[in-house]
Amino acid sequence: MRAAVLSGTGLPIEIEEVECRQPSGTEVRLRVRYAALNHRDVWIQEGQYPGNATGPVLGSDACGIVEAVGDSAESNLLGKEVLVNPSHSWGEDERYQGAQYKVLGNPDAGALAEYLIVPQEYIFLKPRYLEWQEAAALPLAGLTAFRALFSRAQLRAGEKILITGIGGGVALFALQFALAAGAQAFVTSGSEEKLQKAVALGARAGFNYRRQDWVREAQSEAGGFDVIVDGAAGPDFARLIEVANPGGRIVIYGQTAGPTGSLSMARLFWRQLSVLGTTMGSTGDFAAMLAFCEANEIRPVLDKTLPLEQTETAFRRMAAGRQFGKIVVEVSGD
Ligand SMILES: NC(=O)c1ccc[n+]([C@@H]2O[C@H](COP(=O)([O-])OP(=O)(O)OC[C@H]3O[C@@H](n4cnc5c(N)ncnc54)[C@H](OP(=O)(O)O)[C@@H]3O)[C@@H](O)[C@H]2O)c1
Repeated sequence: MRAAVLSGTGLPIEIEEVECRQPSGTEVRLRVRYAALNHRDVWIQEGQYPGNATGPVLGSDACGIVEAVGDSAESNLLGKEVLVNPSHSWGEDERYQGAQYKVLGNPDAGALAEYLIVPQEYIFLKPRYLEWQEAAALPLAGLTAFRALFSRAQLRAGEKILITGIGGGVALFALQFALAAGAQAFVTSGSEEKLQKAVALGARAGFNYRRQDWVREAQSEAGGFDVIVDGAAGPDFARLIEVANPGGRIVIYGQTAGPTGSLSMARLFWRQLSVLGTTMGSTGDFAAMLAFCEANEIRPVLDKTLPLEQTETAFRRMAAGRQFGKIVVEVSGD
């Protein structure tokens, strides 16, 4: 089968012929229609991700059709249109993932290939209202945003939420989910164009984090925020504490902008703030996220769809931060 392969740290993604085995036990094999990128894929390419495997087929997001099943998998899955939960072996405790936890697409072979083998427990029927490209865009980023907002921050209708770096895949789902839940959403971005697009999607206002005075702007526009969802960390993390309302919850899922500077502990304890870490989500979170999307007919924001042969171009687009929404890769199309 054709697959997008990373042969070594820092090398471009190449399309190669890779062996495709039969599924065994409870595994199923999908013919992948579309896959999608996450920043994780770029971090792995750059060697900035723990536990890098050599020669992996990358990609954590896929949808397709089940075309073979292992001897103890359910045969009625054959022919089903499905998407894949990339969050594997979460473990017993809903509060955190266990020691066996792994994400699809390194070390196990991932979604950027003509065929994908996964245990059947990670297969979910593709919601009918979604186009194939949209279904591929949903799993990893949708799961991360859903757990951040609801399982961790316990976002409630009417609350004010600030979502940072709105061009990102997770951030855009956070915006869509927050609006569907009846929250008042505000965003940041380094791009005026992306801020305008976010306002067109329903954000109340946007603030450019490249401007020194964005915190004052946010305070005069919104007052403060009950929930802040951040995937950037970096020196600006300290400023998020300044714009949090008393009793606020700051959820952090990434550190695209690198290490944080020093934080004001006095503000944290005096304002009764909570800083909550979150990573992907449990199988229960995934099922709840899908149900939420179906109930609210949430359609992922797509940036661009490129053919499998242009996977490296897709990686470069994400590395440069040019995207607004999910970058999708067409593997075998409709
Ligand atoms: N813990 C988890 O389970 C989990 C899951 C998914 C992702 N992540 C991590 O979360 C981050 C985002 O992932 P993604 O796939 O959504 O990435 P992505 O689509 O590439 O988005 C990254 C976004 O980061 C924003 N950004 C860059 N510098 C920023 C800054 N100084 N302040 C605020 N925002 C900034 C940019 O927003 P603008 O373009 O709008 O400026 C950019 O669009 C990555 O670091 C990823 O590794 C973690």
